[in-house]
Amino acid sequence: MGKKVLGIDVGASAVKGGIVDLKKGEMISERFKIKTGVPPCPIAEVVEAFAKIVAHFDWKGEIGVGFPSIVKKNIIYSASNVDKAWIGNDIQKVFGERVGLPVFAVNDADAAGMAERVFGGGKGQKGTVILLTLGTGIGSAFFRDGVLIPNTELGHLKFRGDIAEKYCSSRIKETEELSMKKWGRRLDRYLLHIEHLFSPDLILIGGGISRKFDNFKAHLTVKTEVRPAKMKNVAGIVGAAMAGDFG
Ligand code: BGC
Repeated sequence: MGKKVLGIDVGASAVKGGIVDLKKGEMISERFKIKTGVPPCPIAEVVEAFAKIVAHFDWKGEIGVGFPSIVKKNIIYSASNVDKAWIGNDIQKVFGERVGLPVFAVNDADAAGMAERVFGGGKGQKGTVILLTLGTGIGSAFFRDGVLIPNTELGHLKFRGDIAEKYCSSRIKETEELSMKKWGRRLDRYLLHIEHLFSPDLILIGGGISRKFDNFKAHLTVKTEVRPAKMKNVAGIVGAAMAGDFG
């Protein structure tokens, strides 16, 4: 058994956690999820959901958090799908002091990307690898020869009159009731843009919709190899648990 850390993935509408064995890169508990209100959910509600997860596991050790914002040295610098009041907050003060434990935070997509790169589909990959998480927003983790360039925010690239996540996130697929074909074509246009800008060697697609990869891959014309992320819904939690090591 390796070091154990409680990994917590803060999302726009739910907070999820599980105990992770950092050596195996596996969740060794069940996944515990608390739904929060309609985004952007007030800070206090997110903090209470976080504290409930810590109490649920009766956790007394280190906690790693994946947070859906730009995060540098535990400070939040942006708020796209979360309460704007998060900006400037220190995660250790807000989460850590609430439960009296050490908390380390990184961007949620960087967390998922790190898990994928160390334990999943990005293992041993050289060159430029970009993981995109498609959910409420679009998150990105950017690697060059296995080294993470954090907080790249490729979901916020200006695209088609707005930012990319307003064009082809999976939330947009739902709210605009887009068919798989229509949405797949949108995603393809975005991937072509990413390809043009960065010439990646591999693009990994994460987030819940990646489970339906076979249903939309036919609409992708991009030349770069595109694969679904391997670690499915545990990548965010496993990667969050790794935050103390790479954040
Ligand atoms: C945020 C990113 C986050 C992504 C996925 C975006 O709106 O700006 O920081 O990684 O959503 O949650």
